[in-house]
Amino acid sequence: MIMDNYDQVSLRGAEEILNQIKKKPDSVLGLATGGTPIGLYEKLVQSYQSGNVDFSSVTTFNLDEYIGLPAEHPQSYSYFMWNHLFSKVNIQKRNVHILPGVFNNEQEMITRFEKKLIDCGGIDIQLLGIGTNGHIGFNEPSDHLTVGTHIVELAYETVTSNSRFFNRIDDVPTKAITMGMGSIMNAKKIILLANGKSKAEAINKTIEGKVSTDFPASFLQLHPNVQIIVDRDAASFLVEKGANRISV
Ligand code: GLP
Repeated sequence: MIMDNYDQVSLRGAEEILNQIKKKPDSVLGLATGGTPIGLYEKLVQSYQSGNVDFSSVTTFNLDEYIGLPAEHPQSYSYFMWNHLFSKVNIQKRNVHILPGVFNNEQEMITRFEKKLIDCGGIDIQLLGIGTNGHIGFNEPSDHLTVGTHIVELAYETVTSNSRFFNRIDDVPTKAITMGMGSIMNAKKIILLANGKSKAEAINKTIEGKVSTDFPASFLQLHPNVQIIVDRDAASFLVEKGANRISV
């Protein structure tokens, strides 16, 4: 879906999530961080404040977290989620699942997270952003991709581009923990948002490129229910004008 601007991208994405919660009040949402979904979270908060949505039965799982950052660190994804969404709506803390950046027993923590995901019946809607190198969550380009939750070494491109959120590039963690490609692909529906010229090449490769572990987002071509919502700038490198392309 090619929208006029970022605000429309955010609104369209938020509508998908709001419709999902209306249809199924105990929906399981897969959530993303980064600059892109901030507008969508603002729309969800506005909708909650207008009394149009109830998060009390909603369960969430976040895609990823930086290794080494405790939940209270301002650049941790846990902090991001509480700051932009969870503290502003009536979600129940026990229904929020975010991988910890600091832990004692890696295997035990991963097993617990994945079991919860299975016990909840899987993700109804997975929200995604995209890295300029094609990463989704923190599944970085590689000669192989990992199915389940795992720890990754961040690509140099990711560290550089995420350094805008930190004081110094040296402060950016070089490792992260992320849901794997299998967990993402298992979601019943996926919504990927992107805006701006800097994402145009990535969106072209996601939709029109070959499916390759060198560009993890290209695997979304194999998922039966994906909506890619972009602004005109992020759509500007698309070549094919397929029947399934909607300009709004
Ligand atoms: C991070 C996150 C991704 C996100 C990406 C893009 O690396 N792990 O989930 O999609 O950044 O971020 P932005 O939306 O700021 O461009």
